[in-house]
Amino acid sequence: MAIDGPAGAGKSTVTQRVADELGYLLVDTGALYRAVALAAQRALVSWVDDASLGALARQLVEERAVELGSHGSSGFTVKLRGEDVSLAIREPSVSQGASKVSAVPAVRAALLDMQRQAGAAGGVVLEGRDIGTVVFPDAEVKFFLTASVDVRARRRFDELRARGAKPELAEVEREVAERDLRDSTRPVAPLKQAADAHGIDSSLLSIEQVVACIVAQVRVVEAELGARP
Ligand code: DC
Repeated sequence: MAIDGPAGAGKSTVTQRVADELGYLLVDTGALYRAVALAAQRALVSWVDDASLGALARQLVEERAVELGSHGSSGFTVKLRGEDVSLAIREPSVSQGASKVSAVPAVRAALLDMQRQAGAAGGVVLEGRDIGTVVFPDAEVKFFLTASVDVRARRRFDELRARGAKPELAEVEREVAERDLRDSTRPVAPLKQAADAHGIDSSLLSIEQVVACIVAQVRVVEAELGARP
């Protein structure tokens, strides 16, 4: 199953709950791009140095340096070379970096097989930007979750405050809009809804409503697949 959409549409929370309810494995593909951005930051590789970023991403994949853990009460764990970087990859500077490194074709290519392997066995929900369009164009069921820029910026603002930061709302709005523009206008695998994806606008819906809607549609698809000769 593929769940794509822009930042702040509620994808992470929704995907986690959907995976729990359906007993699916969750793969947060954004965490892979974030891990590459963090590794680049630490190695002092510029986020606009395409060749070095591509080489770094390939090296991380070869070394199996990025591990996506399961999510439990403490959240979804991500390790980089054995170190728990679950919090470090959520820093605002790494969010901006992830958006930049994810526009580099060589980085996307390096991470593609890893994502396909993670989803190959089925019973998996992959969350990202291009899962339904590029990574798994034949996914059995696809969703495109979105919300207005205002709503998404407000959610990001509340999230940052809950973590103890003191952001300016206008600044968060600017960052969300900037990231949207970059993610949806990049030449390789831009953020866009797959033609066969179910679109859900979460601006006026609660998390529970979105989860219920997705779970209901997946159950219909599961029943159809199970009923196939
Ligand atoms: O979902 P997220 O905010 O953790 O993603 C971080 C960045 O990675 C985001 O700017 C878009 C990019 N990304 C991507 O290009 N393709 C994906 N499948 C997932 C994330």
